[in-house]
Order: sequence, then C-alpha cells, then structure tokens
Amino acid sequence: MNTPPKAANDASVTPLFVSEVYRADLSAIPDFETLLEDLDDTCRAFADEDEAGQNWSQQKAYLGYTSYGSLNDLPLLASVFEDLKTHLDAHAARFAEALEYDLPEGALKLDNMWINILEPMGTHSGHIHPHSLISGTFYVHVPDGASALKFEDPRLTSFMNSPPRKANARRDHQAFVYEAPQPGTLLMWESWLRHEVPINLSEDVRISISFNYSW
Ligand SMILES: [Fe+2]
Repeated sequence: MNTPPKAANDASVTPLFVSEVYRADLSAIPDFETLLEDLDDTCRAFADEDEAGQNWSQQKAYLGYTSYGSLNDLPLLASVFEDLKTHLDAHAARFAEALEYDLPEGALKLDNMWINILEPMGTHSGHIHPHSLISGTFYVHVPDGASALKFEDPRLTSFMNSPPRKANARRDHQAFVYEAPQPGTLLMWESWLRHEVPINLSEDVRISISFNYSW
C-alpha cells in the first residue's frame, strides 16, 4: 500500500480520478496445481490444433499463438476454462464492488476469453479493450525473465508541460507501472486503461488467458 501524500499541517493533497488495478493470487484455491496443469495442457493443445488461430496470429505478426481471432469463447469449449471462469466471475464482482460501480444485479458478464502463448522475444504493443468494462489476464506459465504487464498513465496526452517524475517516485505518480505476474496471478483493470506486454526476454513461452467483462 502506498503511504498517503505528504502535505504541511495546514494543507492536504487529495488523490482524485484514480486508475485502479486489481491483483489476486489464485494459488491458494483448492486443487490449484491441478487447475494450472490442466490449463497449461489445454492451452498448448488448442495452440497445436487451432489452424485458424495460428493463421490469425501469423497475419497479425503475433510471435506465438493467440486464440483472440478464432476461439474467444473458451468456457464453451473446455470445462477447465469454465472452472477458471467461476473464479474470475467472483473476482470481477469484487473489483466492480471496489470500483463502486452502480450496476444492476447480475449485469456483469464475461464477454470473451482467449489464450495467449507468447514466444521468446514476442511482444504485444500498447492497446485498450474497446466495448468492454473490465479486462484482465490470468497467468498460467511464467518462466524466469518473462514479460511483466506495463500500464500507462491515461492522462499522458494531457501532460502539456509536466517534468518527468523522479525515478523513485511512488508507483501512483509514475507514468508507467509494471506488474510482474507469477503462475496463478490474476490482474484486472478498467478496459480503457492502456497497457502493453514488453518483449518476452525468457527463453521459454509465457502462457496467459485474457478476458473481457461487459454489462
Ligand atoms: Fe490487453
């Protein structure tokens, strides 16, 4: 947790319009190792068999395999993804609660879910997730040196004459923030928040499952 902004006794600094990132560690759930192993096996099997996805990844110059353009309704295709969805639903509801969204009961719905298998030296440039409310990624296989997720301050284009921030400035004052996942890490953010996957400097693939919730 960050410490509150410092101010003189007769003044205060109030954070407004905050951008929030949700992080959870699913490794404590029962049968976590089995779930992770099943997800790992199933992701690799889909990558081997999904020719449309292989072609789509190649056309888009994605170094590795993503099912984003071919199979993005994973919970309908294998029960292990349905199991994962159960956990994601609970966490997405908690994040929506933390964000104090005024949503009708049961409105938050998983829209799509897809596999990413990023080869060494693979990358995914900065982007947002249009037509969605909450986006996120669950990390299955994260070898040493694998990419973190890099978030970008959404106000960058408005910083007309701001100096750079100090190298040791608090994370919530930095223009770019990195979240380094482990196997079992779940990250979620509001879908408008721009993010990218820097180069995968590991010698092994990095496997993750991304998703969007809408309402
Ligand atoms: Fe993304």
